[in-house]
Amino acid sequence: MIAKINEAVSFIKSKYSETPVVGIVLGSGLGSFVGEIKIEKEIPYNEIPHFPISTVEGHSGKLILGELGGKKVVAMAGRFHFYEGYAPNEVVFPIRVMKYLGVQTLLLSNAAGGVNPDFKVGDLMIIKDHISQFTPNPLIGKNEKEFGPRFPDMSEPYSKMLIDKAKSIAKNKSINIKEGVYLSVTGPTFETRAEYKMIHVLGADAVGMSTVQEVIVAVHMGLPCFAISVITDVGIREEENVITHEEVLEAAKDAEPKLTYIFKELVAGI
Ligand code: HPA
Repeated sequence: MIAKINEAVSFIKSKYSETPVVGIVLGSGLGSFVGEIKIEKEIPYNEIPHFPISTVEGHSGKLILGELGGKKVVAMAGRFHFYEGYAPNEVVFPIRVMKYLGVQTLLLSNAAGGVNPDFKVGDLMIIKDHISQFTPNPLIGKNEKEFGPRFPDMSEPYSKMLIDKAKSIAKNKSINIKEGVYLSVTGPTFETRAEYKMIHVLGADAVGMSTVQEVIVAVHMGLPCFAISVITDVGIREEENVITHEEVLEAAKDAEPKLTYIFKELVAGI
Protein backbone atom coordinates (compact mmCIF):
# COMPACT_ATOMS: atom_id res chain seq x y z
CA MET A 1 0.00 0.00 0.00
CA ILE A 2 2.70 2.46 0.99
CA ALA A 3 4.56 1.75 -2.27
CA LYS A 4 1.45 2.60 -4.30
CA ILE A 5 0.97 5.78 -2.31
CA ASN A 6 4.58 6.79 -2.88
CA GLU A 7 4.14 6.25 -6.61
CA ALA A 8 1.03 8.41 -6.71
CA VAL A 9 2.73 11.09 -4.58
CA SER A 10 5.86 11.10 -6.78
CA PHE A 11 3.71 11.46 -9.87
CA ILE A 12 1.80 14.42 -8.41
CA LYS A 13 5.04 16.04 -7.22
CA SER A 14 6.46 15.68 -10.73
CA LYS A 15 3.54 17.81 -11.99
CA TYR A 16 3.35 20.26 -9.08
CA SER A 17 6.32 21.15 -6.93
CA GLU A 18 4.58 23.08 -4.13
CA THR A 19 3.53 21.41 -0.88
CA PRO A 20 -0.19 21.72 -0.16
CA VAL A 21 -0.96 22.20 3.53
CA VAL A 22 -4.73 21.71 3.42
CA GLY A 23 -6.62 18.89 1.75
CA ILE A 24 -10.24 19.39 0.70
CA VAL A 25 -12.80 16.77 -0.27
CA LEU A 26 -15.96 18.06 -1.94
CA GLY A 27 -19.26 16.26 -1.74
CA SER A 28 -22.12 15.70 -4.17
CA GLY A 29 -23.22 18.94 -5.80
CA LEU A 30 -20.58 20.86 -3.86
CA GLY A 31 -17.80 20.85 -6.44
CA SER A 32 -18.15 24.47 -7.58
CA PHE A 33 -16.17 25.43 -4.48
CA VAL A 34 -13.10 24.83 -6.62
CA GLY A 35 -13.97 28.12 -8.36
CA GLU A 36 -12.59 29.79 -5.22
CA ILE A 37 -9.20 28.18 -5.66
CA LYS A 38 -6.54 29.93 -7.72
CA ILE A 39 -5.85 26.82 -9.74
CA GLU A 40 -2.22 26.12 -10.49
CA LYS A 41 -2.55 22.53 -11.66
CA GLU A 42 -5.34 20.07 -12.41
CA ILE A 43 -4.65 16.37 -12.61
CA PRO A 44 -7.44 14.03 -13.79
CA TYR A 45 -7.71 11.01 -11.51
CA ASN A 46 -7.20 8.63 -14.38
CA GLU A 47 -3.66 9.95 -14.89
CA ILE A 48 -2.55 9.33 -11.31
CA PRO A 49 -1.06 5.89 -10.65
CA HIS A 50 -3.37 3.63 -8.59
CA PHE A 51 -6.16 6.23 -8.27
CA PRO A 52 -9.69 4.85 -8.63
CA ILE A 53 -11.87 6.61 -11.21
CA SER A 54 -14.99 8.54 -10.19
CA THR A 55 -18.25 7.57 -11.90
CA VAL A 56 -21.08 9.40 -10.11
CA GLU A 57 -23.02 12.24 -11.68
CA GLY A 58 -22.03 15.55 -10.05
CA HIS A 59 -18.44 14.41 -9.48
CA SER A 60 -15.91 15.56 -12.02
CA GLY A 61 -12.98 13.44 -10.95
CA LYS A 62 -9.77 15.43 -10.74
CA LEU A 63 -7.24 16.62 -8.25
CA ILE A 64 -6.95 20.39 -8.06
CA LEU A 65 -3.81 22.05 -6.77
CA GLY A 66 -3.52 25.74 -6.11
CA GLU A 67 -3.94 28.56 -3.65
CA LEU A 68 -6.80 29.51 -1.38
CA GLY A 69 -6.74 32.13 1.38
CA GLY A 70 -2.98 32.44 0.98
CA LYS A 71 -2.42 28.71 1.49
CA LYS A 72 -1.42 25.96 -0.89
CA VAL A 73 -4.26 23.46 -1.06
CA VAL A 74 -5.13 20.23 -2.80
CA ALA A 75 -8.79 19.55 -3.49
CA MET A 76 -10.53 16.44 -4.69
CA ALA A 77 -13.26 17.40 -7.12
CA GLY A 78 -15.15 14.15 -6.85
CA ARG A 79 -14.61 11.43 -4.28
CA PHE A 80 -14.91 7.66 -4.25
CA HIS A 81 -17.84 5.96 -2.58
CA PHE A 82 -18.14 2.44 -1.27
CA TYR A 83 -21.46 2.06 -3.15
CA GLU A 84 -19.66 2.52 -6.46
CA GLY A 85 -18.02 -0.83 -5.86
CA TYR A 86 -14.63 0.34 -4.61
CA ALA A 87 -13.08 -1.53 -1.73
CA PRO A 88 -12.80 0.59 1.44
CA ASN A 89 -9.02 0.89 0.99
CA GLU A 90 -9.62 2.28 -2.51
CA VAL A 91 -12.17 4.79 -1.19
CA VAL A 92 -9.55 6.19 1.17
CA PHE A 93 -6.51 5.94 -1.12
CA PRO A 94 -6.55 9.65 -2.07
CA ILE A 95 -6.72 10.69 1.59
CA ARG A 96 -3.49 8.84 2.27
CA VAL A 97 -1.97 10.39 -0.84
CA MET A 98 -2.90 13.88 0.35
CA LYS A 99 -1.33 13.22 3.74
CA TYR A 100 1.90 12.03 2.10
CA LEU A 101 1.84 15.10 -0.16
CA GLY A 102 2.21 17.13 3.03
CA VAL A 103 -1.32 18.07 3.98
CA GLN A 104 -1.72 18.96 7.68
CA THR A 105 -5.47 19.53 7.82
CA LEU A 106 -8.34 17.83 6.01
CA LEU A 107 -11.65 19.55 5.23
CA LEU A 108 -14.57 17.50 3.94
CA SER A 109 -18.07 18.25 2.75
CA ASN A 110 -21.00 16.03 1.95
CA ALA A 111 -24.68 15.98 1.15
CA ALA A 112 -26.66 14.27 3.89
CA GLY A 113 -30.18 13.41 4.92
CA GLY A 114 -31.41 15.12 8.06
CA VAL A 115 -32.90 12.94 10.79
CA ASN A 116 -32.93 15.58 13.49
CA PRO A 117 -36.49 16.96 13.47
CA ASP A 118 -35.13 20.50 13.91
CA PHE A 119 -33.24 20.31 10.61
CA LYS A 120 -34.54 21.58 7.30
CA VAL A 121 -33.34 21.30 3.72
CA GLY A 122 -30.44 23.66 3.08
CA ASP A 123 -29.12 23.64 6.65
CA LEU A 124 -25.42 23.22 7.25
CA MET A 125 -24.31 20.84 9.98
CA ILE A 126 -20.82 20.75 11.41
CA ILE A 127 -20.03 17.09 12.05
CA LYS A 128 -18.95 16.84 15.67
CA ASP A 129 -18.87 13.04 15.80
CA HIS A 130 -19.84 10.05 13.72
CA ILE A 131 -21.27 6.53 13.89
CA SER A 132 -19.32 4.25 11.55
CA GLN A 133 -20.81 0.87 12.40
CA PHE A 134 -22.95 0.50 9.27
CA THR A 135 -20.04 0.81 6.84
CA PRO A 136 -16.92 -1.37 6.66
CA ASN A 137 -13.97 0.02 8.56
CA PRO A 138 -11.19 0.86 6.06
CA LEU A 139 -8.53 -0.18 8.60
CA ILE A 140 -9.68 -3.81 8.61
CA GLY A 141 -6.76 -5.95 7.50
CA LYS A 142 -3.06 -5.86 8.25
CA ASN A 143 -2.14 -2.64 9.99
CA GLU A 144 0.47 -0.59 8.15
CA LYS A 145 2.50 0.85 11.02
CA GLU A 146 3.78 3.75 8.90
CA PHE A 147 0.23 5.07 8.78
CA GLY A 148 -0.66 4.70 12.44
CA PRO A 149 -1.49 2.38 15.34
CA ARG A 150 -3.46 -0.88 15.15
CA PHE A 151 -6.15 0.47 17.49
CA PRO A 152 -6.53 4.19 16.83
CA ASP A 153 -8.19 6.41 19.39
CA MET A 154 -11.45 7.93 18.10
CA SER A 155 -12.38 10.24 20.95
CA GLU A 156 -11.99 13.34 18.76
CA PRO A 157 -12.35 12.38 15.09
CA TYR A 158 -13.26 15.98 14.22
CA SER A 159 -10.88 18.60 15.55
CA LYS A 160 -12.51 20.57 18.32
CA MET A 161 -10.23 23.48 17.56
CA LEU A 162 -11.42 23.61 13.93
CA ILE A 163 -15.05 23.22 15.00
CA ASP A 164 -14.72 26.19 17.36
CA LYS A 165 -13.07 28.26 14.63
CA ALA A 166 -15.82 27.40 12.13
CA LYS A 167 -18.53 28.27 14.63
CA SER A 168 -17.05 31.68 15.24
CA ILE A 169 -16.61 32.26 11.49
CA ALA A 170 -20.30 31.41 10.98
CA LYS A 171 -21.41 33.56 13.90
CA ASN A 172 -19.51 36.63 12.68
CA LYS A 173 -21.26 36.35 9.33
CA SER A 174 -24.69 35.51 10.87
CA ILE A 175 -24.68 32.11 9.17
CA ASN A 176 -26.97 29.77 11.06
CA ILE A 177 -25.10 26.52 11.49
CA LYS A 178 -26.10 23.30 13.21
CA GLU A 179 -23.83 20.78 14.84
CA GLY A 180 -24.45 17.07 15.05
CA VAL A 181 -23.62 13.42 14.63
CA TYR A 182 -23.29 11.89 11.15
CA LEU A 183 -24.06 8.24 10.61
CA SER A 184 -22.62 6.57 7.53
CA VAL A 185 -24.48 4.03 5.46
CA THR A 186 -23.33 2.19 2.35
CA GLY A 187 -26.14 3.35 0.05
CA PRO A 188 -26.86 3.47 -2.80
CA THR A 189 -30.51 3.26 -1.67
CA PHE A 190 -31.79 6.17 0.35
CA GLU A 191 -33.25 4.99 3.63
CA THR A 192 -36.71 3.64 4.28
CA ARG A 193 -38.89 5.56 6.73
CA ALA A 194 -38.13 2.93 9.36
CA GLU A 195 -34.41 3.27 8.75
CA TYR A 196 -34.46 7.07 9.08
CA LYS A 197 -36.27 6.63 12.41
CA MET A 198 -33.77 4.02 13.56
CA ILE A 199 -30.85 6.27 12.64
CA HIS A 200 -32.35 9.07 14.71
CA VAL A 201 -32.97 6.75 17.66
CA LEU A 202 -29.32 5.66 17.49
CA GLY A 203 -28.21 9.20 18.19
CA ALA A 204 -27.48 10.60 14.74
CA ASP A 205 -28.62 13.93 13.33
CA ALA A 206 -27.76 13.24 9.70
CA VAL A 207 -27.08 10.26 7.46
CA GLY A 208 -24.97 9.91 4.35
CA MET A 209 -22.91 7.67 2.12
CA SER A 210 -19.42 9.14 2.49
CA THR A 211 -16.89 10.88 4.73
CA VAL A 212 -16.57 8.44 7.63
CA GLN A 213 -14.15 6.00 6.00
CA GLU A 214 -12.04 8.95 4.86
CA VAL A 215 -12.01 10.47 8.34
CA ILE A 216 -11.06 7.14 9.93
CA VAL A 217 -7.89 6.82 7.85
CA ALA A 218 -7.07 10.51 8.34
CA VAL A 219 -7.34 10.15 12.11
CA HIS A 220 -5.28 6.94 11.90
CA MET A 221 -2.50 9.02 10.31
CA GLY A 222 -2.87 11.83 12.85
CA LEU A 223 -4.42 14.21 10.33
CA PRO A 224 -6.90 16.65 11.93
CA CYS A 225 -10.30 16.71 10.20
CA PHE A 226 -13.19 19.10 9.85
CA ALA A 227 -16.40 18.22 8.03
CA ILE A 228 -19.68 19.86 7.13
CA SER A 229 -22.87 18.20 5.92
CA VAL A 230 -25.33 20.06 3.76
CA ILE A 231 -28.77 18.78 4.65
CA THR A 232 -30.28 18.05 1.25
CA ASP A 233 -33.38 16.14 2.32
CA VAL A 234 -35.20 15.35 5.53
CA GLY A 235 -35.81 11.71 6.22
CA ILE A 236 -38.17 11.66 9.15
CA ARG A 237 -41.13 13.57 7.84
CA GLU A 238 -44.46 11.78 7.99
CA GLU A 239 -45.82 13.05 4.70
CA GLU A 240 -44.69 12.20 1.17
CA ASN A 241 -41.03 11.23 1.41
CA VAL A 242 -39.63 10.49 -2.01
CA ILE A 243 -35.99 11.50 -2.31
CA THR A 244 -34.17 11.83 -5.62
CA HIS A 245 -30.53 12.41 -6.49
CA GLU A 246 -31.58 15.51 -8.46
CA GLU A 247 -33.23 17.01 -5.37
CA VAL A 248 -30.08 16.33 -3.36
CA LEU A 249 -27.88 18.07 -5.96
CA GLU A 250 -30.25 21.05 -6.17
CA ALA A 251 -30.32 21.57 -2.39
CA ALA A 252 -26.55 21.24 -2.24
CA LYS A 253 -26.15 23.93 -4.88
CA ASP A 254 -28.37 26.35 -2.96
CA ALA A 255 -26.47 25.89 0.30
CA GLU A 256 -23.05 25.97 -1.29
CA PRO A 257 -22.19 29.70 -0.86
CA LYS A 258 -22.42 29.43 2.94
CA LEU A 259 -20.27 26.34 2.97
CA THR A 260 -17.76 27.96 0.63
CA TYR A 261 -17.46 30.98 2.88
CA ILE A 262 -16.78 28.88 5.97
CA PHE A 263 -14.20 26.68 4.24
CA LYS A 264 -12.45 29.71 2.76
CA GLU A 265 -12.19 31.51 6.08
CA LEU A 266 -11.13 28.35 7.84
CA VAL A 267 -8.30 27.79 5.38
CA ALA A 268 -7.19 31.42 5.66
CA GLY A 269 -7.06 31.09 9.44
CA ILE A 270 -5.17 27.81 9.58
N1 HPA B 1 -29.48 9.30 3.02
C1 HPA B 1 -28.25 8.88 2.71
N2 HPA B 1 -27.40 9.60 2.01
C2 HPA B 1 -27.78 10.82 1.60
C3 HPA B 1 -29.06 11.31 1.89
C4 HPA B 1 -29.95 10.49 2.63
O1 HPA B 1 -31.10 10.88 2.91
N3 HPA B 1 -29.14 12.55 1.34
C5 HPA B 1 -27.95 12.78 0.74
N4 HPA B 1 -27.13 11.74 0.90
